[in-house]
Amino acid sequence: MHLLKLVIFGLLIIGFYTFFGVEYFPKVALEGPPETASSYTDGVMEDDDIVSLGEVIFTGKGVCTLCHMHSGRAEVLDRVFITAPQRLKDSRYRGSAKSALEYVFESMLSPSAYVVKGLGVVGSGDKLSAMPDVRSPAIGLSDAEIRAVAAYLQSLSGVEVTVTPDTPITYGRAAGREEAGEK
Ligand code: HEC
Repeated sequence: MHLLKLVIFGLLIIGFYTFFGVEYFPKVALEGPPETASSYTDGVMEDDDIVSLGEVIFTGKGVCTLCHMHSGRAEVLDRVFITAPQRLKDSRYRGSAKSALEYVFESMLSPSAYVVKGLGVVGSGDKLSAMPDVRSPAIGLSDAEIRAVAAYLQSLSGVEVTVTPDTPITYGRAAGREEAGEK
């Protein structure tokens, strides 16, 4: 009898949160300003705009700083444009990028093309990256957002920001959506 009361009580609690949770919480979540590219792509985008949008995405929607931070799962990316040429020459490199920018696009869309030593999925012998494809539902960046993040990383590395809203997202082969989905 006692157990039955507990079960009923439990069901009531679950029912309460299911009902009120659905009713109220999403509305609160939707109130925050969506940090997406749309507010920027409406007008002409200046260099500074694309970099600051990239920073917002990098720390926000892109969740990059979840892993890419000091003492995190991956290194801080403040030199990635400087180290990229060495990555491309590394015998373990299996991608098809031809430049630092292509390498960064490739790292975002096909992370296992090169896995930084010691940072791969445990047991994969550094062949499988622990990083999700940034277009996958887990992160869900649009092309405009991917470009902005690349521009931000150029600025962070202290190299010239060459990415514009028209820069094609390619790395050797065209990085189409179908292809990015391939593993
Ligand atoms: C779940 C954790 C995680 C998230 C989230 C994540 N990364 Fe990574 N990233 C990694 C790990 C681990 C590596 C190192 C392994 C590898 O080389 O793939 C890496 C590698 C990279 C590299 C190559 C670094 C190098 O030195 O060659 C780039 C560029 C990069 N990430 C960019 C990003 C960007 C931009 C975002 C956000 C849009 C992001 N990552 C989100 C885990 C993550």
